[in-house]
Amino acid sequence: MAKLTLKDIDLKNKVVLVRADFNVPLDASLNITDDIRIQATLPTLKYILGNGAKKLVIMSHLGRPDGKPVAKYSLKPVGARLKELLGQDVLFLNDCVGDNIKQDIAKAKEKVILLENLRYHAEEEANDPGFARQLASLADIFVNDAFGTAHRAHASTEGVTHFLKSAAGFLLEKEIKYLGAAVTNPQKPFMVILGGAKVSDKIGVIENLLPKCDAIIVGGGMAYTFLKAQGKQIGNSKLEKDKLDLAKSILDQAKQLGKEILLPVDNLVVDNIDPNAKTEIAGDNIPDGKIAVDIGPKTVKLFEDKLRSAKTIVWNGPLGIFEMDAFSKGTQEVAKFIAALKTTSIIGGGDTAAAIAKFKLEDKMAHISTGGGASLEFLEGKTLPGISALTDK
Ligand code: 3PG
Repeated sequence: MAKLTLKDIDLKNKVVLVRADFNVPLDASLNITDDIRIQATLPTLKYILGNGAKKLVIMSHLGRPDGKPVAKYSLKPVGARLKELLGQDVLFLNDCVGDNIKQDIAKAKEKVILLENLRYHAEEEANDPGFARQLASLADIFVNDAFGTAHRAHASTEGVTHFLKSAAGFLLEKEIKYLGAAVTNPQKPFMVILGGAKVSDKIGVIENLLPKCDAIIVGGGMAYTFLKAQGKQIGNSKLEKDKLDLAKSILDQAKQLGKEILLPVDNLVVDNIDPNAKTEIAGDNIPDGKIAVDIGPKTVKLFEDKLRSAKTIVWNGPLGIFEMDAFSKGTQEVAKFIAALKTTSIIGGGDTAAAIAKFKLEDKMAHISTGGGASLEFLEGKTLPGISALTDK
């Protein structure tokens, strides 16, 4: 059966239960440091409120409290932020299931209700059917907008769909539209940029996208295992020794498929990873003792020349240690270049999304995924249970 979308459903006088991914970063004083995941869900929430729903009950997890209440993982700060963003009162309830919660929802004068962290109950991650049924009993309709948690088969993402009429929210649909098109039917030329620390995190994505793309551009810590596999010197740069054979076989596979893998030809190197460290540029043979922390200017040019003609770009993983300003230039230059292209630019979540936000280029990209692990698994071609549960019935 085809997936229902929000617009297929009559919301009039219905209590609507929305699974959001409000797993947002908080500082030590419990201030939200990045609310993009809350903002990204607003179109769904506003649509539900604007289309006659009786009540909007929102549930989420935050962090990994391991099945018991842990104060620092409370969703209370999210409730306060949500109230500001929606411009209306939000009732925060200190649990997510039980008779008291049901009564509180029924009695609430507020239309919007946020439940406490689902993962305070071990049954959530265990996908316990009884717990899923209790969640379902709070509402008439279930809407999943939690793309960031779609790779988890939990009670609030998968289990609940067995007990309630279920639909995809607008954010989930948007993520599937952009990431799905890249994985199944990308407009060509299709270029993939991979970075971040580890080759091991990106193997599945390489295996799935190498046959579909025109080229893979590699930067960040993972590039040095590939350079080493080509027999280059990498100094003290990041190396996954146990992935050298794999890197070699990926390079061979690319050759057989006639696909290009572009690696850094120059690098910003330091003696130790410190924002104030003295930097210099080294070629693709990095001297002993030096650590590569960013791609160099020739590499930026090489990558830009390759990207110029792209109709689709998927980017997952920064090209250097962008969190430190001194080592962020390569990632920033490439991001600025992509921002100015007429291309469908899809940014994988997590660190890459944080980098784009740091450079204030969010509005210039076609899509920035709100998923970290979820977007990686999607790009690996895996079926995400939170999505398939909406279609399988
Ligand atoms: C995420 O931040 O990737 C999601 O919210 C999922 O969180 P988890 O990895 O703790 O399941």
